[in-house]
Amino acid sequence: MSDGSGVVGIIGGTGLTTLAGLTITGTRSLETPWGAPSSVLTDGLLDGQPVVFLSRHGNPHRIPPHEVNYRANIKALYDVGVRTVIGVNAVGGIHPDMGPACVVIPDQIIDYTWGRAGTFFEGDLEHVTHIDFTWPYDREARDIMMQTASAQGVPFAGFGVYGATQGPRLETAAEIRRMERDGCDLVGMTGMPEAALAAELGMRYVCLGLVVNWAAGKSDHIITMAEIEAAIEQGMSGVRRILEVSMAGLGKLRVLPQSS
Ligand code: HPA
Repeated sequence: MSDGSGVVGIIGGTGLTTLAGLTITGTRSLETPWGAPSSVLTDGLLDGQPVVFLSRHGNPHRIPPHEVNYRANIKALYDVGVRTVIGVNAVGGIHPDMGPACVVIPDQIIDYTWGRAGTFFEGDLEHVTHIDFTWPYDREARDIMMQTASAQGVPFAGFGVYGATQGPRLETAAEIRRMERDGCDLVGMTGMPEAALAAELGMRYVCLGLVVNWAAGKSDHIITMAEIEAAIEQGMSGVRRILEVSMAGLGKLRVLPQSS
């Protein structure tokens, strides 16, 4: 964009297949060198700000976490000018402060996924690229979202290590205990390789997590879909409020220089 800022993209996850409050101005079906994204790209205005929305699991919700074409999703957003991505993720809570319906804006990732197409840098390359990924989530975008959450009175945790698991099954109690020992505060199935792919293209990326259940073994009961749906119902209004009100600030972030 001419003022040096990029378009903001939102990748909606479980519980956010469509974005209520978005004034839709158009839809685009795109193809990328890595195939088609999970859904059409929906262009619209959120609180008067231009935004592009993509449904990670398709609309209707049909693509499981391990089969999402993360490369096509990120590349499609990049190709329409998105330079700041908000990944909305349903997660399980491990940290005692991260119970159901809590909003989390994590600051780190541990990747336990396997077998996913997780890089744009493969095949017939002229040189090998290793991007820096020390801070996987964009600090300025996180700050804007945390200030918005505070100002709007939405309870949130502004820290946390996101442990990305393969799915689609949930974890065992022992797996969660191991993740806790590793330092994970929350667990989800879609945070990676999405964040790394955005970084490879020099995009800002931030995770807006909604805790939808206590992680396995962290409560006295097994995890049910009813519990998850109730937490989505309870917490998604806070997520939507943060998205709406942070749009103006996020839209002004300057485009990062390309690192490679
Ligand atoms: N584990 C992994 N992914 C999840 C969970 C969980 O408990 N809840 C929502 N996504």
